Amino acid sequence: MVGLDWGTSWLVAARNIPDPEDVDKPKPRFRNQRNCYVSVNLDESVEDLLKQANMSYVRFEDEDDRVYVIGLDAMQLASMLSNANNRVDIQRPMAAGVMQGDVNAVRIVQAIASQVLKEPKEEDEVVYFSTPANPIDSDFSTTHHRGMAETALSRLGWDPRPLSEALAIVYATQPTMQTFDGDEAKLTGIGISCGAGMINVSVVYRGLETMGFSLANAYHANEGSAGDWIDRQLFNAYGHQMGSIATCTRYKEQFADFEKIPDPRTDTGVDLMDYAEAVSKTSFVNRGNKHWHFEVLASIRVWYASLLDYVITQLAKEFEERRPTIDGELPVVLAGGTSKPNGFEKLFSERLDRQRGLPFAVSGVTKAPDCMNTVALGCLAMACARGSTPE
Ligand SMILES: Nc1ncnc2c1ncn2[C@@H]1O[C@H](COP(=O)(O)OP(=O)(O)OP(=O)(O)O)[C@@H](O)[C@H]1O
Ligand SMILES: [Mg+2]
Repeated sequence: MVGLDWGTSWLVAARNIPDPEDVDKPKPRFRNQRNCYVSVNLDESVEDLLKQANMSYVRFEDEDDRVYVIGLDAMQLASMLSNANNRVDIQRPMAAGVMQGDVNAVRIVQAIASQVLKEPKEEDEVVYFSTPANPIDSDFSTTHHRGMAETALSRLGWDPRPLSEALAIVYATQPTMQTFDGDEAKLTGIGISCGAGMINVSVVYRGLETMGFSLANAYHANEGSAGDWIDRQLFNAYGHQMGSIATCTRYKEQFADFEKIPDPRTDTGVDLMDYAEAVSKTSFVNRGNKHWHFEVLASIRVWYASLLDYVITQLAKEFEERRPTIDGELPVVLAGGTSKPNGFEKLFSERLDRQRGLPFAVSGVTKAPDCMNTVALGCLAMACARGSTPE
């Protein structure tokens, strides 16, 4: 049985394998791949290059003039083929949490899924895969995406079963709530998946999702949400120096660190200029200009804070509208690539404190230990618990 995080920018598969040191305790093994591709016109030299470089690619029988290089290899190929006169950009089959328009999107993600899942170990082996909740800030539904993901996984020989992405975080991390009566409510808390295209939220009470939604359109600006939204803000402000969105993503992933980019309004004893100077010495862009890096790093904190303010406001609004009955202080668990920077959970707590009047009490905010693999781990936990019973 397998768990699969089917994400906008990463696919992650998790399977339990025996631990030679403790046969009774299998350990999860993860396999991941970037969810992107580059389409290449096919001629002999290209095919030779791809074979020599041992790159992952797919060909479709109805298209004999092109191949699609997938995953990390696509990113490497794009930078190899780009030069001053010709930019080759990677393409992504998904945006805002779902497969989008592109006629090849489904079969390309299917090829990437096949790479991380490998072959099923038996006919119709069960795979629990993550699906986003319907967004409350956009007018698309995730039903089509879920159906197409099921179709793709069935074609690969699996028995696919959907699981809400943020609910998977709660299954993986198993938070407990103290009720006001002094009882312990297991599997209770708010899971928040901070991904690339979406923020997914699930309010879970004793293992059951009482409220679930996603955010796909931060501030209704049609610039996406979550990590992609941060990258877009970075590009809007500093695109001239950064050159491309991909460079903005790389810069953010390398340098966003909220232990080193402190809240300017609190005296933490940490000087951002020290970090800006260190970044300016190692950065692949605008090297040496510490004042520029100071500004970019401070801006990154401002955008993360704005994104979290948006999430908190929407969560409060949904809670007010749906009013689930919760008899205790809820633990919040964050996961997903956008939660990866150091101090992210502290930043979330800070923003919660600033926004008084949340309609529920929070007992604490934590980040899942292995935040890029948490959703896949939760899907695997579900597969192990339920996989042997028919749906
Ligand atoms: N070290 C890092 N620092 C900051 N951001 C990071 C880091 N590593 C990854 N990210 C960001 O995390 C995001 C990807 O996270 P994740 O894999 O959880 O998303 P996804 O599941 O593919 O997307 P979604 O859940 O929206 O469908 C990207 O925006 C990426 O830039
Ligand atoms: Mg995700």
